[in-house]
Amino acid sequence: MTNAFEVAAIAAVPDNSMKAFVVNGEKIAVFNLGGKFYAIADTCSHDEASLAEGEIIGSQVECPMHGARFDITTGRNLTLPAVVPVKKYEVKVEGGKIWVVM
Ligand code: FES
Repeated sequence: MTNAFEVAAIAAVPDNSMKAFVVNGEKIAVFNLGGKFYAIADTCSHDEASLAEGEIIGSQVECPMHGARFDITTGRNLTLPAVVPVKKYEVKVEGGKIWVVM
């Protein structure tokens, strides 16, 4: 069964930025790309760095520790040293708030 969890007001994640949140006990990184919101697991699949502390490059995020890149829209790993994806979450925007389905 899935539930939608309130994460933050949309103003908490300005355009072209990202922020980490703990939602329902899971660390997630929420991204705002041109007004569209995405969420993936915040913990890098390589060695547990916080992806929200990395850098947004187009629709990718670069891990701050060893530079692996992930697709923000799917969680797919794109470059080494990450060899597995990170979890992607469905995001809804309702009532001026960001919600994540998990
Ligand atoms: S911890 Fe992210 S690339 Fe190593």
